[in-house]
Amino acid sequence: VPVTALLRRPADIIGSADHAGHPNIPLPRDLYRPRRTNSRGLEFGERAALDALVAAVAAEPLPAAARGVDATPEEANAAISAARVGFENWSRTPAGTRASALERAADLLEQRAAHFMALLQREGGKTLDDAQSEVREAVDFCRYYAAEGRGQFGDSKAMPGPTGESNVLRLRGRGVFAAISPWNFPLAIFSGQIAAALMAGNAVVAKPAEQTPLIAAEAVSLLHEAGVPSSALHLVQGDGRIGAALVAHADIAGVVFTGSTEVARTINRALAAKDGPIVPLIAETGGINAMIVDATALPEQVADDVVTSAFRSAGQRCSALRLLFLQDDVADRMIEMIAGAAHELRIGDPGDPATHIGPVIDVEAKQRLDAHIARMKTEARTHFAGIAPPGNYVAPHIFELSDADQLTEEIFGPVLHVVRYRADRLDQILQSIERSGFGLTLGIHSRIDDMVEAVIDRLSVGNIYVNRNMIGAVVGVQPFGGHGLSGTGPKAGGPHYLARFATEQTVTINT
Ligand code: SER
Repeated sequence: VPVTALLRRPADIIGSADHAGHPNIPLPRDLYRPRRTNSRGLEFGERAALDALVAAVAAEPLPAAARGVDATPEEANAAISAARVGFENWSRTPAGTRASALERAADLLEQRAAHFMALLQREGGKTLDDAQSEVREAVDFCRYYAAEGRGQFGDSKAMPGPTGESNVLRLRGRGVFAAISPWNFPLAIFSGQIAAALMAGNAVVAKPAEQTPLIAAEAVSLLHEAGVPSSALHLVQGDGRIGAALVAHADIAGVVFTGSTEVARTINRALAAKDGPIVPLIAETGGINAMIVDATALPEQVADDVVTSAFRSAGQRCSALRLLFLQDDVADRMIEMIAGAAHELRIGDPGDPATHIGPVIDVEAKQRLDAHIARMKTEARTHFAGIAPPGNYVAPHIFELSDADQLTEEIFGPVLHVVRYRADRLDQILQSIERSGFGLTLGIHSRIDDMVEAVIDRLSVGNIYVNRNMIGAVVGVQPFGGHGLSGTGPKAGGPHYLARFATEQTVTINT
């Protein structure tokens, strides 16, 4: 079946790739565990296992390159109507059966990890390390939501009540969820949104980013194969216009969105303008994420964690470090070490296991980043300017600003902005972080417990990392999501997430 046809049909995309005969080489189990400690560089385990993994990824026969073929608005409407019907059955399917389908999807993802890693490299520009982490995260989402969902959606919860009266509380699906996902985690966030919505008993119409249609098509195909009925999960490809058509549709009961603050606002307005039921939005957006480093921090650790937080994944993570506050006593030394570490990073072909930084997602992203870098070169002090090979590559850059307020928007790439502060002016930094209105991630490097506790107490930020890097939240370990301009607050990979996708019903029976 031609890939483009598969990408196009919204209601039935079963069987997008024939995996029979593909060398599905499972990753060694010990390379595949969720990370529970600081990640320090690559963690591939022994050399032989890495070589096998690289060979497996390289050997993957991939479908022909595809740009998505946009669904028409009529096709999007047809997908929602079909999902409406699918919801009736899926919401009545026992929670344990829904969970089993997700667990089967996790098994299949593990079996086909090399295939998905190859797709992530080719379509998403992911390095081997990032591709491996992303497959692992997708697997973790499926397993975690299945495990949580079995408990939360399995049995009604008995509530205390007077004799002669039974009171129970139960969670149920809302209806058809629109799941609108970004290109920077085209497998993990895409399948995490879907898994949560499905586990909560909803039907889903998923609209992936237009830059990564093939990964989405294959992931949906896999979920169908795992036992999610095709009537309960539909895929529509397209750009923001298709997303807007989904959001505006009268039969959408909820929207889960990860992407920019601007688009989250647009969705929020569109939902508010609709007649009929009030439709919830679960949004996770970006941030001007800061790290505060005082004079008690360990310099080698700071250099390592800053480089990982700012430059890994070419800075294309919503969690990534954008604004580094350095106490002035140690700033020169820290900058020198961070620039030295940045200089060691290898930028280039994501298929090469030695590569640290692959390409940015597309030429538009490169142009936006190049324009910002050019502006910084005139408006800020340049501490480091890496050299990028030809293509959609952007090298790491480090600029020093005289004032944090000079950075007014999220720069989604490998550009680090540094600001010096005086120890007695810490309060000014905290004020400037608050003024930005974002609240996604924050890093603190300090050995002064009182200072750390005061900052944690004061700032409304979703994920705070102390004395480590500030990316790569692990499902079930670091529930992830932000406040204010960074999102509506729900924590993906956390115990309260599924309830956001559900209605709650209390039943009181006079016995
Ligand atoms: N969840 C990712 C991280 O923690 C960002 O989307 O890096």
